[in-house]
Amino acid sequence: MTMKINQTTLALVRGDITRERVDAIANAANERLMGGGGVDGAIHRAGGPTIAVECSAIRAKQGGCPTGQAVITTGGNLPAKHVIHTVGPIWRGGDAGESELLASCYRESLRLAVEHGIKTIAFPSISTGVYGYPVAQAAVVALNGVKQFLEAHDGLDEVRFVLFDDVTYGAYENALATMEV
Ligand code: APR
Repeated sequence: MTMKINQTTLALVRGDITRERVDAIANAANERLMGGGGVDGAIHRAGGPTIAVECSAIRAKQGGCPTGQAVITTGGNLPAKHVIHTVGPIWRGGDAGESELLASCYRESLRLAVEHGIKTIAFPSISTGVYGYPVAQAAVVALNGVKQFLEAHDGLDEVRFVLFDDVTYGAYENALATMEV
């Protein structure tokens, strides 16, 4: 499923983000940039140790990455040249600023991408695994966050959501179908 927002294609696909041939993939990281399970673990395994080395340099310099922010490293052995690590909110029931923080993850990742001349970027569904954000709500926030950014900024050819399972893909498909253009 795809949609065009100004010059940028917004696409939804099912798949494993570590295999995507794009300039950058986003990682659903934690504030310490320590690696973990889920997509974070998969990215570090597939990309090799240089990603963790660069994460540790960022940790030494600025202590990590606050929730809602993003940092960039090499893609190591991945087909993608860069990994943009962003830290989604842990779901606490919805009244703890979760939606603003989640929207900020997408916005800050895209801002960093444009700054680095990245043309194509893939996102996983941030916060909807270990961090427990309900996927139907997260999909609306994610797609609207990306849409708002693309309406205001040129420079990206494609933003692709790479969704790992049918339930997640279905939630993003529903959210995109009901999104106003
Ligand atoms: N490609 C794409 N999506 C994937 C992949 C993959 N290879 N592996 C897992 N996913 C999906 C999950 O199915 C889920 O839909 O990514 C989504 C996000 O789940 P998590 O990886 O658990 O991320 P999140 O909920 O943001 O939790 C982050 O988990 O791994 C730790 O270090 C990480 O502490 C951080 C926390």
